[in-house]
Amino acid sequence: MMTRAIVTGAAGFIGSHLSEKLLAEGYTILGIDNFDPWYDPEIKKANINNCLLHDNFDLIDADIRSVDFLSLFKEGDTVFHLAARPGVQDSWGNGFADSVENNIYGTQRIFEAALHTGVRRVVFASSSSIYGASATELKREVHPISPYGVSKAACEQLAEVYRERGLDLVPMRYFTVYGPRQRPDMAMNRLFRASLPGSFRFPLRGNGTQRREFTFVKDVVEATIRAGYTLENASSEAFDIGGGVSASLAEVMDMVEEIVGSSIRVDQHPLAAGDPLITVASTESAKELLGWEATTSLRDGLQEHYESFSGSLTLVS
Ligand SMILES: NC(=O)c1ccc[n+]([C@@H]2O[C@H](COP(=O)([O-])OP(=O)(O)OC[C@H]3O[C@@H](n4cnc5c(N)ncnc54)[C@H](O)[C@@H]3O)[C@@H](O)[C@H]2O)c1
Repeated sequence: MMTRAIVTGAAGFIGSHLSEKLLAEGYTILGIDNFDPWYDPEIKKANINNCLLHDNFDLIDADIRSVDFLSLFKEGDTVFHLAARPGVQDSWGNGFADSVENNIYGTQRIFEAALHTGVRRVVFASSSSIYGASATELKREVHPISPYGVSKAACEQLAEVYRERGLDLVPMRYFTVYGPRQRPDMAMNRLFRASLPGSFRFPLRGNGTQRREFTFVKDVVEATIRAGYTLENASSEAFDIGGGVSASLAEVMDMVEEIVGSSIRVDQHPLAAGDPLITVASTESAKELLGWEATTSLRDGLQEHYESFSGSLTLVS
């Protein structure tokens, strides 16, 4: 049965891709986004343009911290909750207030409203950041090392609380997502900008040996839709959504230089607190219960990211 999809953070990087794919699959969507100025809202307006042309898409410019969800959610809706204040580094210091309000409080408001309106399921964006330094093959436990990671771990704990009250909830632990429209603060976006003509320089923290499981955005979207509609019984399972291969930043830099055909301008910085040295996803549950695994290689994903990039170049400084 095609239930209506609510997508929070619909104008963001992942939310806009998710909305486009849901529309292509025939779903009706209510998107919610407050066009938060944490990064340029013009980029977000461009992200959501394609969706706005579609008859089955409505967008509300509203803040999840205050909007009246009780008048928006309907029985049987499936909520994909992606709105958040992302970014590890900005969550230190006074930035944590924004992580708490947007991530923890905003999520609690959604769970509460979902409970009272008969929403059938809430799939929500968690993060590999909840593992902190422990997302390796050997050890994986919820042990965040950044305030942002703490905020996402708190959302998962809230999910436990609301699950006890009968809400159907699916946490998706996304591992470093990249691809067209990637946020301007993220590594691949910066690497392409620092290798294309211009003056932007990539702020390299450490020596590039830090490893990430990079995940192409279209693979993330596929997993998220399966969690919303294909997964039969949501248990207490949280899914690691990772691209299948962990690569070092230095390896990614080499690939970007090869794809663009020029060198990356680099500024050297010390390693930053809160950034893990390695992240490795464990995707067995996603394979078994969602029938999902990433299909896009890092090389192919970077190529597609690069090809889309010229269009967004004018929008990022
Ligand atoms: N990009 C990644 O690699 C990654 C990794 C792990 C988890 N995540 C999570 O996935 C989700 C989407 O991330 P993204 O990279 O697309 O980020 P994004 O910033 O591009 O998208 C988030 C969107 O949410 C909106 N938003 C923020 N606060 C809001 C509020 N209070 N009310 C309404 N809308 C609000 C923003 O305007 C933005 O359009 C986030 O929850 C993020 O924490 C992302």
